[in-house]
Amino acid sequence: MTDIQAKLKELQAQGKEVPALDMIKTPEQIEKIRLAGKLNTAALDLIGKFIKVGVKTEDIDRKVHDFIISQGGRPADLGYDGYPKSICTSVNDVICHGIPSAYALKSGDIINVDITTELNGYYADASRMYMVGRVSKQAADLVNITRECMRRGIQAAQAWNTTGDIGAAVSALAHKHGYSIMKEYGGHGVGLAIHEDPFVCHEGKKGEGTVLVPGMIITIEPMINEGTDKWYEAGQDNWEVFTADGKLSAQWENTILITEHGPEILTE
Ligand code: MF3
Ligand code: CO
Ligand code: CO
Repeated sequence: MTDIQAKLKELQAQGKEVPALDMIKTPEQIEKIRLAGKLNTAALDLIGKFIKVGVKTEDIDRKVHDFIISQGGRPADLGYDGYPKSICTSVNDVICHGIPSAYALKSGDIINVDITTELNGYYADASRMYMVGRVSKQAADLVNITRECMRRGIQAAQAWNTTGDIGAAVSALAHKHGYSIMKEYGGHGVGLAIHEDPFVCHEGKKGEGTVLVPGMIITIEPMINEGTDKWYEAGQDNWEVFTADGKLSAQWENTILITEHGPEILTE
């Protein structure tokens, strides 16, 4: 038995929820996922300069698609569970899974662009918010505080903490500002597939949930709402998730490697 296996056995005996061993990546796998992360980051950087008033969300989709293909990768969302486009573009009251379309961005919009890149069979997943033209202070605050929520979640992703520690850190800051949290969608293991265990809920209690072990790779991707946490699905094949009250939602996402020396962001 390895040191890690012995430690997990001990934690399990203490009643902790420990990860299955296949959630822990090998050094070789980590290096490949790191490369997928670099390509994913380059795609997010590219569209930062491109997004402005009048740009259609399907133009962003095309740009990312062509770029990732040109670099030898594949936009992994395309065809995932029948998803029709290469990326997700979630504008204003769309919480997640917004489908790129002929919608032209207008001044005041906030948009999340979420990209998952497959490179040589390995996956990385990240998203950023972009503010279009002049946005209200209310919208900018939501975007900036959601980013800080993500950062606090990442800081909580220390080895031998739990997914509940991440949720507790994210939700404490969101609630302090009167925001609500999407709980039914959240972070996830990633690397050998788009979505792996464990599920990472962005609201939680310290010490609860799955123990974080060095070598695990997860996303932290809080979706924070200005108003209600209630939501509904609509659009093509019910992919798009909207806030029930039509108020704004924001999200930031990174792919994180758990190490003995703290969380390492693989998509930055
Ligand atoms: N990138 C999304 C996530 O963060 C997954 C999108 S799946 C899709 O988990 F099919 F909607 F594209
Ligand atoms: Co994700
Ligand atoms: Co994503």
